[in-house]
Amino acid sequence: MIPKQIIDHILEVARVDEIIGEFVQLKRRGSNLLGLCPFHNEKTPSFTVSPTKGIYKCFGCGKSGSAIGFLMEHEHFSYPEAIRFLADKYQIEIEEEHIKVDAGNYDEQLRESLFVILSFAQKYFSTQLNEHSEGVSIALPYLQERGFDESIIQKFQLGYSLNKWDAFYDAAKKEGFEDEFLIKAGVIAEKNGKHFDNFRGRIIFPIHNITGRVIAFGARQLKKEANSPKYLNSPETDIYYKSKVLYGLHQARNSISKKNECYLVEGYTDVISMHACGIENVVASSGTSLTNDQIRLIGRFTKDICILYDGDEAGIKASLRGIDLILEQGLNVRVVTFPEGDDPDSFAKKHSAFELREYIEKNRIDFLRFKASLLMKDTGDDPIKKTTAINEIVRTLSKIPNSIDRSIYLKECSQIMLVDENVLISELNKIIRKELKKDFGPNMGAAVESSVDSTSNAAREMIYTALSPSEFQESIIIRLLLLYSDQNISSEKNKNVPLFDFVLNEIDEDIKFEDELYAYILEELKKIKSRGEPINLNYFIEHEREDVRDEVNSLISSPYQLSDKSKYEKKGIYIPEEKEILPNWVIKGINSLKMKTIIKELKSVHAQIKECNDEIRLHELLEEKMRLDELKKRLSERLGIVVIR
Ligand code: GTP
Ligand code: MN
Repeated sequence: MIPKQIIDHILEVARVDEIIGEFVQLKRRGSNLLGLCPFHNEKTPSFTVSPTKGIYKCFGCGKSGSAIGFLMEHEHFSYPEAIRFLADKYQIEIEEEHIKVDAGNYDEQLRESLFVILSFAQKYFSTQLNEHSEGVSIALPYLQERGFDESIIQKFQLGYSLNKWDAFYDAAKKEGFEDEFLIKAGVIAEKNGKHFDNFRGRIIFPIHNITGRVIAFGARQLKKEANSPKYLNSPETDIYYKSKVLYGLHQARNSISKKNECYLVEGYTDVISMHACGIENVVASSGTSLTNDQIRLIGRFTKDICILYDGDEAGIKASLRGIDLILEQGLNVRVVTFPEGDDPDSFAKKHSAFELREYIEKNRIDFLRFKASLLMKDTGDDPIKKTTAINEIVRTLSKIPNSIDRSIYLKECSQIMLVDENVLISELNKIIRKELKKDFGPNMGAAVESSVDSTSNAAREMIYTALSPSEFQESIIIRLLLLYSDQNISSEKNKNVPLFDFVLNEIDEDIKFEDELYAYILEELKKIKSRGEPINLNYFIEHEREDVRDEVNSLISSPYQLSDKSKYEKKGIYIPEEKEILPNWVIKGINSLKMKTIIKELKSVHAQIKECNDEIRLHELLEEKMRLDELKKRLSERLGIVVIR
């Protein structure tokens, strides 16, 4: 934790024009400064910075905020990272003096020590590669042979660990590092009281966190050795959580934002080779198979991921798994497969940089086409195989949390696989039913089946929405409240009510948000409204709670964008603007939440009815059940009656 008074001090000293001036060329215009907006493409400047107000605003794209907000938006810093960046810039000491040495701060100190050790180790391994005779005579030629020149070696801070038991250990001891911390940093191991280097005789690939500090190492053997693994990685430590780290993200992040796409590869050398070919928006999930945390991390920079894996069976399997995970996180995914046996690194070695870029450009396909063609390849005319294939593809589509995206893909899928769209919808509903049964138990599954079976579009849409993770409806409602609070909406009961009042009116009676974070944001929104103030997004973007900032950021940075809207429109599939459709969703979201609550209550009532021996109580329970059934019925009927203006 950075002490509050330090943050205040930093904010006092920081000047918005100086900070933004580091990233954008600004010219003075009266009391403001003007420049080209870094957030959208423009030829005439509409990006203004006001030193007196301490804010920036772009009149082209509408982005605005404080200096901190700018750093978070432009550099993708978290709030503490932005504060640290400013502290650095204005040479304000954050930690050392202000951290009281007590038990509570041991963790923070430990982490800082590990950073210091790893930074030392990285420099040490670099020196051995470039200056020690062993590095110069065997390690450096190996890297050169792989096509890594000096600038690439520097960029990735590659190094070499001598083929000795304790070369690094000795150097670290001379620096005064303690055994305990060296072991905790994952660079030294201990056996029978003896200490030795972890990565002997290996090329060192430092792994950086997002701000560029070294947090771990990958280490590759120089030659194939039968009884030792090709790669050794640092163990997990207090600063290295494998599942939350992407190799190359620090070097890639600017390019990912600029290109608005992220390539995902399997290995360290794939990342490096692609950089050598001039492709910088690339990361690897080295050390683990792809995780949700890693996907969310990419999602901070772009919603478009392109998987570049080997074309062998293992690579295809990994791609298919990746597709489902990425879709579940609400991101778009495309795939490039390389000829069997090739990864981007080996392909780059056989071809020119231009050819690699061209290959990716030409072979990048939509996940649906990738999966459908893979599945259809060996179905032929066999109806059973075809059914299995359809099933499989619908399972993947069911992972997409956004029902608009989902229905568009359903349409496209029916065209690719030559299957009637209704067949696909009915398959999708089967999966939904299963999910609901998992959520609510077998009886309640049956209870909602009636609405699943209803063919009305509205009911179908609600069920699609009900399929998604439980926070999904809550997230939609919060998003709408953040963006459209003051827009008027009408229903049968209420005409022209601001969206905010409408929603509160609806949910206050009987809905409680399950997700703690959304519940909290809702409370914050209510507080603002009760003071009669408009919803100011900046308040949330700079909120003291990091999870609030992150969530609001991702909620308002439209997740409902399609990568290729015009493509669908050419095919005559109309995609409504978010403004048109989302207010409708709020009603559906609320109703789905209500439905969930009702179903839960029904479930509990059913259970009680089963157990009940008391006649009076049983009567009460049955009445309660009737009331809930009636509510449920009314709810289903209410879908689709809302008109928006
Ligand atoms: P090169 O053979 O140097 O081109 O490496 P590569 O990146 O092509 O390796 P490969 O495709 O075999 O594996 C991809 C990634 O899996 C590597 O970058 C490593 O992160 C990891 N990996 C591969 N082999 C091992 C191993 O033996 N142990 C561990 N822990 N990880 C490995
Ligand atoms: Mn390789």
